[in-house]
Amino acid sequence: MLVVLKGSAQEVGQEAARIVAGAVRANPSIVLGLATGSTPLGMYEELVVLHRAGKLDFSKATSFNLDEYLGLAPNDPQSFHYFMHSNFFSHVNFAPKNIHIPDGAIRKDFSAHCESYELAIKNAGGIDLQVLGIGRNGHIGFNEPNSSLASRTRLKELTQETIEDNRRFFPPGADIPECAITMGIGTILDARRIVILATGKSKAAAVAKAIEGPISSSVSASALQLHPDVIFIIDDDASYALAQRDYYRRVLELTKKYTPEKLS
Ligand code: GLP
Repeated sequence: MLVVLKGSAQEVGQEAARIVAGAVRANPSIVLGLATGSTPLGMYEELVVLHRAGKLDFSKATSFNLDEYLGLAPNDPQSFHYFMHSNFFSHVNFAPKNIHIPDGAIRKDFSAHCESYELAIKNAGGIDLQVLGIGRNGHIGFNEPNSSLASRTRLKELTQETIEDNRRFFPPGADIPECAITMGIGTILDARRIVILATGKSKAAAVAKAIEGPISSSVSASALQLHPDVIFIIDDDASYALAQRDYYRRVLELTKKYTPEKLS
C-alpha cells in the first residue's frame, strides 16, 4: 500500500484525478469503479475540467458504482444515481450504456439483481481502477463493520452511525434509507488497482486503523492491506492518527524519486 500525504483536501482530489486521468489515457476502454460521498467531489470536478478542455475522453470507458440506497429511485435527488449524474456523468461523455449503478428501486429479486451486477462486472473484464472513500467506521462502499472480507454485491443494513453521517445529504426530517445495495469487499479487492481517498479529522481514526491496524472485518478498509496495488491519498487532517506518518513521508519521497512517472 502506498500512502500519499497531501496538504489539503483539494490536493487529494487533484491527485486522484491525475491518477484516474492517466489510467483513462493509457487505456481508453478502461473499466472504472466509482464512489459517491463528499470526498471524491474534488476529483470529479477536476476530471470534468480535463474533459471540457479536450484532454480526457470517456467515450470508450465503462463504469460501475460501488453502491446505492435501497428504496431510492434513480431520479430521487438523494440517490447515488442522481449524485453521479449531477456531479459527473452529465458533464462528461460516457456512453449511457456503459454506466452501471445498482438499482435502488427494486422491490424483489434482490439476490438476482446483485448476481447480475457481479456478472456485468465480470463480462466487462473486471474493474481496472476502483476509486473509494472511507466511512468514519472504516467502511468502504457500504460494507459496514463485520462484513465478510470475501463478500460480494449484496444488500447491507446500514449502521446508525452511517445513517447519521449521511443525514446531511437529506432534507431535514426526511427518512434516511436503512439499507443499501453494495459491492462486497471481495468484489472491491478483485479490482486491479485501487485508489482510496480520505480527508478531514473525522476520518483520521479510520485511516489509521485501515493502514496500520490488524486486518479485521471490524474495519472493512483494513482488507485493502491484502491488495497488491493500493494508493491511499489523504490530507494532513486525515493523517494525524498515523503512528508512522513520518515514515510514509519518507517512502513517498523515495517513491517519487524512483518512479517519477507514477507520482509527480
Ligand atoms: C458513504 C458511501 C461511501 C463513502 C462514505 C464516506 O457511506 N457509501 O462510499 O466513502 O459515505 O462519505 P464522505 O466522503 O461523504 O465522507
